[in-house]
Amino acid sequence: MESVHGDPKHTVTLNNGVTMPLLGLGTFRLQGCENVSQAVDAALDCGYRSFDTASVYRNEGDLGQALRKCLPKYGLTRADIFITTKLAPVDLGNNAHEACLRSIKELGCDYVDLFLIHWPGKQGWRSDDKRNEKAREESWKAMEDLYRSDVIKAIGVSNYTKRHLSELLISCFVPPAVLQVEFHPRLPQLDLLDWCKTHGVHLQAYSSLGCGDLLKDDKVIKVANFHGRSPSQILLRWALRQGVGVIPKASTYERIKENIDVWNFELNDEEAEFLQRDCIEKRCCWDPTGVA
Ligand SMILES: NC(=O)c1ccc[n+]([C@@H]2O[C@H](COP(=O)([O-])OP(=O)(O)OC[C@H]3O[C@@H](n4cnc5c(N)ncnc54)[C@H](OP(=O)(O)O)[C@@H]3O)[C@@H](O)[C@H]2O)c1
Repeated sequence: MESVHGDPKHTVTLNNGVTMPLLGLGTFRLQGCENVSQAVDAALDCGYRSFDTASVYRNEGDLGQALRKCLPKYGLTRADIFITTKLAPVDLGNNAHEACLRSIKELGCDYVDLFLIHWPGKQGWRSDDKRNEKAREESWKAMEDLYRSDVIKAIGVSNYTKRHLSELLISCFVPPAVLQVEFHPRLPQLDLLDWCKTHGVHLQAYSSLGCGDLLKDDKVIKVANFHGRSPSQILLRWALRQGVGVIPKASTYERIKENIDVWNFELNDEEAEFLQRDCIEKRCCWDPTGVA
């Protein structure tokens, strides 16, 4: 039976019972009313029901407007859509409550499905500044309050290491439902994935395509040719087969469509292992390990 977020086989039930699509549209660097609207329209047409934004992307307002404009065209309502946004690093600490409400207002929604702490350190402070821990704790408390008052349906974190997560588990009342991190064959983070599975935290990958770079990787192309699939589909399938959610960002109709057409083929263990074997670790984004 179809759930509000599409085929149940393509969703995950988070540790608080909330259902989240396993695949959503990333929107980093998608800006301007027209561009956002075109991407949202294409995504909804292709079956996407989940959108990932953040205060720092400066497109929450455009995303909210695009959804209000496009949803009726597909007979959908806000309830059919899953929206994730994130607390800006500059607002980590005692500004968090106000900043979360500001994001919800920007989006023009009554609630957000998932709110994440974007980064474990506060912007403007050194990474090794010991005050970061307190700022994370204050932010989490603010998000717990908003979760209790039902304006946020699930709360989680992004770019946290096992150390940040373990510390959060000790101090929190509501455990994190999601961890969003960079995750692809050049950064498989299998330890972190194991930790998440043990502690009931859903791992969601960002930069699954290596920000586009991995699409030119020889091994990815080899597996893609074997399956008659595109490199992006191989990379997304590599994450999904491990139970990891994905949020590829694309701006053309063709790419948006290609990236969601990933459910009707499988990679075997050997292929999955081949993709990550002997890869030299290469991050697209910042490394959070040094954040105190
Ligand atoms: N929590 C965090 O700190 C964090 C950090 C980074 C990203 N994110 C989230 O994760 C999302 C995805 O990560 P990302 O944007 O870094 O990178 P990504 O999804 O790995 O790659 C996006 C790039 O790949 C290209 N692309 C997408 N589909 C393609 C296809 N089928 N064929 C060829 N090229 C394709 C896109 O081009 P066009 O756009 O030109 O079509 C874009 O240049 C972001 O948008 C954001 O929502 C979160």
